[in-house]
Amino acid sequence: MVRKLPIAIKSSWKFTYFMCGIVGYIGKQKAAPLILEGLKRLEYRGYDSAGIAVFQDGSFDIAKKVGRVSALEKEVPRYRLVGTCGMGHTRWATHGSITDANAHPHLSYDGKVALTHNGVIENYASIKKFLITKGHTFRSETDTEVLCNLIAYHYAKQAGLAGENRFVTAVRKSLHHTQGTYGIVAMNVDAPGELVTARKGSPLVFGIGEGESLVASDVSAIVSRTQNVVYLKNGEIAHLTLKNFSITTLDADEVSPVIDRVCWSIVSAELGAYHHFMEKEIFEQPAALKNTMRGRFSEDGSTALFGGLNVTANEFSGIERLMFCACGTALHACLVTEHLIESFARIPVECDYASEFRYRNAPLARNTLFFVMSQSGETIDTLAAMREAKRKGYRVLAINNVVGSSIAREADGGIYQHVGPEIGVASTKAFTSQLLLGAMLALYLARMRDMSFGSGVRYVEALKGAPDLVRKVLEQAPHIKKIAQRFAHSTDMLFLGRMSLFHIALEGALKLKETSYLHAEGYPAAEMKHGPIALISETCPSVFFAPAGEIFNKIVSSMQEIKARRGPIIAILSEGGELPPGLADEVIIIPECHEAVLPIVASVPVQLLSYYIAAERGCDIDKPRNLAKSVTVE
Ligand code: F6R
Repeated sequence: MVRKLPIAIKSSWKFTYFMCGIVGYIGKQKAAPLILEGLKRLEYRGYDSAGIAVFQDGSFDIAKKVGRVSALEKEVPRYRLVGTCGMGHTRWATHGSITDANAHPHLSYDGKVALTHNGVIENYASIKKFLITKGHTFRSETDTEVLCNLIAYHYAKQAGLAGENRFVTAVRKSLHHTQGTYGIVAMNVDAPGELVTARKGSPLVFGIGEGESLVASDVSAIVSRTQNVVYLKNGEIAHLTLKNFSITTLDADEVSPVIDRVCWSIVSAELGAYHHFMEKEIFEQPAALKNTMRGRFSEDGSTALFGGLNVTANEFSGIERLMFCACGTALHACLVTEHLIESFARIPVECDYASEFRYRNAPLARNTLFFVMSQSGETIDTLAAMREAKRKGYRVLAINNVVGSSIAREADGGIYQHVGPEIGVASTKAFTSQLLLGAMLALYLARMRDMSFGSGVRYVEALKGAPDLVRKVLEQAPHIKKIAQRFAHSTDMLFLGRMSLFHIALEGALKLKETSYLHAEGYPAAEMKHGPIALISETCPSVFFAPAGEIFNKIVSSMQEIKARRGPIIAILSEGGELPPGLADEVIIIPECHEAVLPIVASVPVQLLSYYIAAERGCDIDKPRNLAKSVTVE
């Protein structure tokens, strides 16, 4: 059945990330410029090559180019590309090297079907063999071209079926034969002005505008044209025409669509006065932290409240262990959370890389509560770790930024971060928000156990003060920029800290490596002499976290060991902290703060340092080489 618009509109904001970006358009405007604009917004998902296909005069006109969308844009004038229905793709290579031929969209051997695809077709080799026996020929090494030809094969076989049904049926039959993940947009030469889109694993959303429809891998690519969107669910196929749309399942059952209203505008996905999204997102942290906390403290101000955990206080108090799994930066947030929960709530916590946990068959104690953390909610290893824990019968909760992500949907409950879209590939505001939620979780658990009312109130007050403390650190950006300029051309850099700040040292090193391609390592400050000290030289500075506290003097001793070997030192000290004269080459001051807030406040200088070093080295900060915002392949 075809649904006419409008349908009830539900209000929420959603934002989704995945590797590779897809945009499709049908309407009255020229499709190519709108598709290129959408692709630029999706470039953070992959930027090896880009392509565009527009239907015109009974065939597809396709332009493809290795490199960024800007390279494709330069190519476009060589083509006519004047049609009003088309699609585009920005690629992060999985199958096949980075060449124009492997770029999407792909065209079937008979020119009937054009396809863009995000994901991996695992059984593409056997399908390709079969299609070769049927006379299909291939121009690329990609799994996508195989799927495109499979659709063409089924389309040819459905010759008896009329118009729209024939193509949707061909897509459905093809998807039944594929194993793996996909988000696809397909076009058929016999049905101009129509798009067929489907997903399993890879997210897709379509928007319903004034006399036009758009489809994309995430709403940032379409929100400038419409805020009324439908998030396609796994196993669904949507058929979009100029006037209406229908959704069915892979088994051809009709689906009643829910139209969501995107509540953020395109402005939140735009740079404004900033040079890069990473810079913008670092400076957005005071507001992001406020949004993460909003409405999440008890009336008496002594503990945290979480609406969506779906675990009763009674069940929580019986929990004996917690397990956290995540990848990359999110894992660093888990490690800090472990430290805080163990130190305040006295509950044993284990953390693991999601990619390791999913295969190592770890024994878990019965009353273990399992948490995953993920900004995007689409990271494949985190999703797999979560499924593995669920398979073993554990209740799994998620800390996640993207509302409606795969992880959010599959978790038994969770906490949304509410920091809005994070577009820079290097995570910054999502990280500090995860640190904040970890600190709030530690408080919640501690208040169920031994933490007193008074300590709870002081803890809450400290958390509420975090945005202002972060703002104070941000005021030092010009000073940190100068330090970055001084050390930007070092050969290596060590980040050294202890306790919770050891994990921020890991994060500092990761941030620097990914944005500036400068070799960096994070280490526990005292452990450094068991190996990494061999790296020390005049061109290998060490960033020391040396906050006020009981181990300050121990950290100063580690600094002396570095200085004795001519290693430059950048010291991050609490206000009032003093070092022996001449020990540090540069000092960054952070406000003195509660133990639960310290990791948040201490993260900011190293984010800024990485950002400014990357800028000084002329790196592509928002799109570092070889990376994508969310890693959705193993
Ligand atoms: C580094 C970074 C990555 C992500 C990791 C997990 O700056 O952003 O290390 O933290 O890929 O991503 P999510 O949190 O989306 O699961």
